[in-house]
Amino acid sequence: MAKVKTAFFCQNCGAQTSKWMGKCSSCGEWNTLIEEVIQREEKGIIRSAMSDRRSAVPVKILEVNYSHEARIDTCDKELNRVLGGGLVPGSLVLIGGEPGIGKSTLMLQVALKCEGQKFIYISGEESDQQLRMRAERVGVRNENCFILPETNTQAIFQHLEMLRPDIIIIDSIQTLQTDIIESSAGSISQIKECAAEMQKYSKITHTPVFLIGHITKDGNLAGPKILEHMVDTVLQFEGDRNYGYRILRSLKNRFGSTSELGIYEMNDNGLREVSNPSEILLSQRDEPVSGIAIAAMVEGMRPLLIETQALVSTAVYGTPQRSTTGFDVRRLNMLLAVLEKRSGFRLGHKDVFLNIAGGLKVDDPAIDLAVVVSILSSNQESAIDSKTCFAAEVGLSGEIRPINRVEQRISEADKLGFERIFISRFNTKGLDFKRYSIKVIAVTRIEEVYRKLFS
Ligand code: TYD
Ligand code: MG
Repeated sequence: MAKVKTAFFCQNCGAQTSKWMGKCSSCGEWNTLIEEVIQREEKGIIRSAMSDRRSAVPVKILEVNYSHEARIDTCDKELNRVLGGGLVPGSLVLIGGEPGIGKSTLMLQVALKCEGQKFIYISGEESDQQLRMRAERVGVRNENCFILPETNTQAIFQHLEMLRPDIIIIDSIQTLQTDIIESSAGSISQIKECAAEMQKYSKITHTPVFLIGHITKDGNLAGPKILEHMVDTVLQFEGDRNYGYRILRSLKNRFGSTSELGIYEMNDNGLREVSNPSEILLSQRDEPVSGIAIAAMVEGMRPLLIETQALVSTAVYGTPQRSTTGFDVRRLNMLLAVLEKRSGFRLGHKDVFLNIAGGLKVDDPAIDLAVVVSILSSNQESAIDSKTCFAAEVGLSGEIRPINRVEQRISEADKLGFERIFISRFNTKGLDFKRYSIKVIAVTRIEEVYRKLFS
């Protein structure tokens, strides 16, 4: 019999009991008792690897040996980019996302595409036939990809010991179950304990592990926040299910920047990497329409051209409506107040709707000018030339403010065939306009932009 002891701890006051109770007898809070392991015996591969562990001694940081740039290529450019240049051996990567967004498809596809590595895809959600069906759909054949429909961690470790895979994928952490804890799969104590076992395995054997995790309705990873502390990297797979594309974002990364972004498109045969995102973020149209302006943005390290769409109409009800998709509604209210107070545009009695194309959520302030221009364009019923784009922040006094990485934005717009870009005059210092064939228009105030566009 394994020597494992568990007890229930109150998450509110820390009291310990040997039985589960609905109400903590110590502090009186309801539903706060959670099972935790207090003593265990290590088993199998973990034990054999742990037994020769010596206790650590302090060393000078400069004397620590490390292997530089030992990254594993996942054969997926977007995933490599988001991971910060490839997968770090022995790292634990959590991939979160709403149900049906494509997490399983993404991971299975990576496992199938990457012929050089021995992958094991452990699924507690789908049977082997279902996985095979999905693999057929993705249409890649790979001799080196193994699947295992299993949820018990002890059984999983036995298989891992025999197979010795290079990369492990677990779909999903919520379905895993360890014998040493009695509560059912998906409970906080199970998730925590299973993740801890996987982490130990991964650190000891230097095998990277991808954990797929579900997201609750309010957008958090289901299960405790503690999961996010344990893993090295947290990636979020998101996107609007009504649109074809998906964004892989890094929320935490011990080995790279968190501002990187990977973009995919969901097709009938799996996910396609989108290497030129502007192609999908700009809608194709034949004739100019009012209310549309294009912003030259930078998401992470990547320049993107993206469309903002505004609709301004006379309010039917007493209080005008302001509603946005993909943009902060308070920021919209602020920009409307600036337009009203500083530049004299009467929008106080108008409904204003704003939409960022492609279901993207934007927080780069450089989109401000495009938002303002799309609102003015809709209000004027006058279309903006589709070869014009914008990159500037708008300040509270109606001034056009400089933004970072302006050269990157200009050259991306130039590359995509835009003819004019509006930027702040304060951004022009040191810029060499002759390098670009795009015309750079430097402005200082909203009124100036208005005059150049509409009169
Ligand atoms: P899935 O990977 O099962 O999502 P998750 O694991 O995040 O819950 O993705 C399911 C959705 O993807 C499903 O609605 C069907 C769609 N899909 C495609 O459009 N094309 C494909 O080739 C595949 C495999 C799935
Ligand atoms: Mg799934």
